[in-house]
Amino acid sequence: QMNTFISNLMSKMTLDEKIGQLNLLTGGEATTGSVVSTDVESKIKKGQVGGIFSLTTPARIRKAQEIAVNQTRLKIPIIFGQDVIHGYKTTFPIPLALSSTWNMEMIKKTARIAAIEATADGLNWTFSPMVDISRDPRWGRISEGSGEDTYLGSEIARAMVKGYQGDDLAKYNTMMACVKHFALYGASEAGRDYNTTDMSLDRMYNEYLPPYKAALDAGAGSIMTSFNDINGVPATANKWLMTDLLRKEWGFKGLVVTDYTAVNELIDHGLGDLKAVSALSINAGVDMDMVGEGFLTTLKKSVQEGKVKAQRIDEACRLVLEAKYKLGLFDDPFRYCNEERAKTEILKPEHLAFAREVAAESFVLLKNENQTLPLKKTGTIALIGPLANTGANMPGTWSVNSDLANTASLLTGMKAVLGKQVKVVHCLGSNLVTDEAYQQRATMFGRDIPRDNRPEAEVIKEAVELAKTADVVIAALGESSEMSGEASSRTNLEIPEVQQRLLQALLKTGKPVVLVLFTGRPLVLNWEQQNVPAILNVWFGGTETAKAITDVLFGDVNPSGKLTATFPQNVGQIPLYYAHKNTGRPLADGKWFSKFRSNYLDVSNEPLYPFGYGLSYTSFAYSNLRLSKNSFKPGESITASIDIKNIGSREGKEVVQLYIRDLVGSSTRPVKELKAFQKISLKPGESKTVSFKLTENDLKFYNTALRFVAEPGDFNLFIGGNSRDVLETKFSLRN
Ligand code: IFM
Repeated sequence: QMNTFISNLMSKMTLDEKIGQLNLLTGGEATTGSVVSTDVESKIKKGQVGGIFSLTTPARIRKAQEIAVNQTRLKIPIIFGQDVIHGYKTTFPIPLALSSTWNMEMIKKTARIAAIEATADGLNWTFSPMVDISRDPRWGRISEGSGEDTYLGSEIARAMVKGYQGDDLAKYNTMMACVKHFALYGASEAGRDYNTTDMSLDRMYNEYLPPYKAALDAGAGSIMTSFNDINGVPATANKWLMTDLLRKEWGFKGLVVTDYTAVNELIDHGLGDLKAVSALSINAGVDMDMVGEGFLTTLKKSVQEGKVKAQRIDEACRLVLEAKYKLGLFDDPFRYCNEERAKTEILKPEHLAFAREVAAESFVLLKNENQTLPLKKTGTIALIGPLANTGANMPGTWSVNSDLANTASLLTGMKAVLGKQVKVVHCLGSNLVTDEAYQQRATMFGRDIPRDNRPEAEVIKEAVELAKTADVVIAALGESSEMSGEASSRTNLEIPEVQQRLLQALLKTGKPVVLVLFTGRPLVLNWEQQNVPAILNVWFGGTETAKAITDVLFGDVNPSGKLTATFPQNVGQIPLYYAHKNTGRPLADGKWFSKFRSNYLDVSNEPLYPFGYGLSYTSFAYSNLRLSKNSFKPGESITASIDIKNIGSREGKEVVQLYIRDLVGSSTRPVKELKAFQKISLKPGESKTVSFKLTENDLKFYNTALRFVAEPGDFNLFIGGNSRDVLETKFSLRN
């Protein structure tokens, strides 16, 4: 039915109209006032606009859609997209934080709620999920993904797509997902944004590509090309990537859109002028051009000159129209323009309550000496630091729809939750960064972060005096939301120096200090780990962050987040990740340095906090790791079981993680690979047996011929509460 409908429609379309469908603009003055794209209204009338992004509200979207369906020759509706990345108005934690919940149902529900709110506001396409694996915390966009692990990243990719798209894309409250950034963007050299990626096929297939494929296999309707160069050919012009791999090998049938002006940027990559790069890009497999208008302005000529086949334009146009068809836009172009829904379904109390729950579950307790946490709900708390009294900072990167002005700061949120039980006193204590740094890059330090122009010593002294009056000090420190995310690469991953000086001064008071750490990436925290009694990493937790932090600090919620990206001891160790290869000269376990071994003179190979790590207010004891058999054959399965007991005094959740190591392979295999996990909840004293069934499929990898195979032989199997502290056994896969 869809094919016939679109074939009929396309038979009436001119080449210009087909090319018009390949043009994705921002919502310029047609409705919101000029943003970047110009003359949007007149372009819509001329049939030169296939999609618009960053235009919201039913009224504005209706206005643009009316032009498309009433004033163009063929009345083709527009598709409306936006970066709905971690929630819409109800904003959830940044994706790296969300991944730290290891709670797939929860993550899926965040995407579902995001879709409910975004579609209520007129949108039907989200540029999410971002599934780029990254092992480089210098890269600011590590905050937008699910961390370093292929298996976990793939599970999350699937959950997000299902959450956005539901089971029927044409439903009024589901939206099309766009997997990004294809491909390998998270491996940009040196963590510098937009930089080159150069990678072996072994690493691509086994480590970086699976999450994109998982998202597509889950039904994602579209995919976005990345900005980076891949082995000499930028992704946006890479035929191997978009045609050979994506279409032919993976069988993807959806829409390929570029990133923002990525076609035009091929000129700077050195591939030619706008006409040449537009032709290259569409010939490589791109269907839709975001903002740059290279397709709109040059493709007709390229077709006339025989440089682009009319058939390629037809294919691309068909894919855009199919997306619109699947979204139900030909049935009802105003399906997503429902004022009533916009009034009732955005920022619903139950969405906010869920956001609070998710935020609390995303926090990672990094240290808790002598049970400093949870705090008692009595006495005086000194809440100090540049991030203590800013609400706008809470939602984190890519929260374009968040109501920043009305998001509670930690100070106001904490006071609201605690009421009169606890006296909360506050002062700034330090600026976010030094004046010099601030003057150079003020915009990067962003969003409503208070500053004090007095000399630093004076500001710190005031904080020390205040701290002395309190029973406990909470230091709200770290990165501002704009210090991670796009174009926010860093080479120094410590808490900014001026804040470290504040922290040192607060510790000298002798009061118990809790570091509430805001960050969009793994930081280097050696000094803090050695000197601060308690560290709660709260990332950027979204709209309800302040309440969620209070819930965790005061013990109403027991933290259960686990890191999904390794925290290094220093920047020189990067890339540092648990699933590394063994090398021919591995360092013996527990050693720091041995001559002629793979290690450093000045730092051990260990991370500060390993992948999968995170503490709880209770403790879990793992015992009795056993297997249903010692070996199994293809077609059979093996079950690994372990007993976990809550040996503390509070109920808590634990992420039980299963890793394997393939001991002998036709190519080198990682020393550990996550293959399964379960998040369980245990009451004090309670024990549970957790079982995982593995089949041959779980042991497969891409060999040097890029065949996905499991090779018979011996494997180690590990289960534990993080990637380092595990119990171990062995099994074999037999022929
Ligand atoms: O979706 C984003 C992408 O992640 C970065 N460049 C801009 C796009 C559209 O806003």
